Amino acid sequence: MQKIVIEGGARLKGEVRVSGAKNAALPILASAILGTGTSTYRNVPKLADLGTMSKLLTLLGAKVESVDREGHVLRVSTDALTTHHAPYELVKTMRASVLVLGPLVARYGQARVSLPGGCAIGARPINLHVAALEQLGAEIQHSHGYVEARAPQGLKGAQVHFERITVTGTEDVLMAAVLAQGETVISNAAREPEVQDLALLLNKMGASVEGAGTSTIRVRGVSSLHGTEHAIIPDRIEAGTFLIAAAITRGNLVVSGFIPEHVEALASKMRQAGVDVTAAGHGALRVQASLKLRATDITTEEYPGFATDLQAQYMALMTLAEGISFVSETIFENRFMHTQELARMGANIRVEGRQAIVAGVAELTGAQVIASDLRASASLVLAGLVARGETVVDRVYHIDRGYERIEEKLARVGARIERII
Ligand code: EPZ
Repeated sequence: MQKIVIEGGARLKGEVRVSGAKNAALPILASAILGTGTSTYRNVPKLADLGTMSKLLTLLGAKVESVDREGHVLRVSTDALTTHHAPYELVKTMRASVLVLGPLVARYGQARVSLPGGCAIGARPINLHVAALEQLGAEIQHSHGYVEARAPQGLKGAQVHFERITVTGTEDVLMAAVLAQGETVISNAAREPEVQDLALLLNKMGASVEGAGTSTIRVRGVSSLHGTEHAIIPDRIEAGTFLIAAAITRGNLVVSGFIPEHVEALASKMRQAGVDVTAAGHGALRVQASLKLRATDITTEEYPGFATDLQAQYMALMTLAEGISFVSETIFENRFMHTQELARMGANIRVEGRQAIVAGVAELTGAQVIASDLRASASLVLAGLVARGETVVDRVYHIDRGYERIEEKLARVGARIERII
């Protein structure tokens, strides 16, 4: 199993560019099911999860081809979709496979998608996806670990209210609504930039979506959609991870090729903690070393609040801050798996329910640690960058799900880091 080995103590300097957003690319690839003809997607991150989504589309009968050498441009044609069955073998490796549920029901009037099952950070049910599709007229049953959805007369526009904000739930029902008869209003919708990017793409395919990025999205159903071209937005979570990497190593780093407003909640917390975060030209922020870090509390919230996907990384930074930080995780019920591994590196963290209490320490020391989930593994890499001595992060397949060649990008800005096979 591959590992990442880090010799701590190097200050990051220079400039690192952000890749395309995994969590925008996944629903956008799934949306290809809705259209006839061919779509071309640029700035696609080369990540394991996108490979899984490509495999799933191919299994459904789509043609998915890589247009460029690096795999950042994908061309998908879905004229010959032959089945509407997303099998357990694939879905169990990536829960975002549930994003084909809405498009399959909308386009073909039926879908059979394996229930994704839980994952390290929580139970992660899809009851809200199912309830929303039922409000559009889908008849849904559960059997043998699969969700079976049917809409023989097609879907009908409706008022859809989410009792709880869900990102992929919003994306699933949005993709179903664009081909439903009549108007759909989605209330308490997720406002994430990835939802906005999906809506932009759907409108380029001929849909009629308004209000994406707000809590109320209005959709006027159309009879068909066509292929299009689209560049995926940059990954705000990768950008935030690199901003924190610069701060934790007391470096002087420019993170570029992204949309700074997408990380405003993080940037403002970093400034409160005493980190110098400044604009560095279009689509870039600079982080400069700061004498000391002040403990700063965070509470994760839906966008535009502090992203749950940056909680573990920020906690790594707070392990070295002066004072006590309270980290509250309101989105997932079990997203503190990194605390034990950080503690093995000398961090002083106590978890009480959905709150972690982080008492800053003078230094972290390198250790052998194990990644448990995507963002937890990122926090261990960040801790390794500053820890005294060597850190070995095991099970790095977790990190490859969300970061494109992270060790190469960090090494290029001064980190002493390598992957061992
Ligand atoms: C998306 O997951 C992201 N994944 C996650 O990123 C991210 O952490 C999460 O949104 C929150 O921002 C993708 O976009 C592919 P939710 P999603 O539905 O849509 C509960 C990463 O690291 N819920 O917004 O699955 C759920 O259990 C990943 O890149 C239900 O109860 O998250 C959670 O507690 C991790 N029933 C809360 O809502 C449902 O039907 C928010 O989940 C759906 C969700």
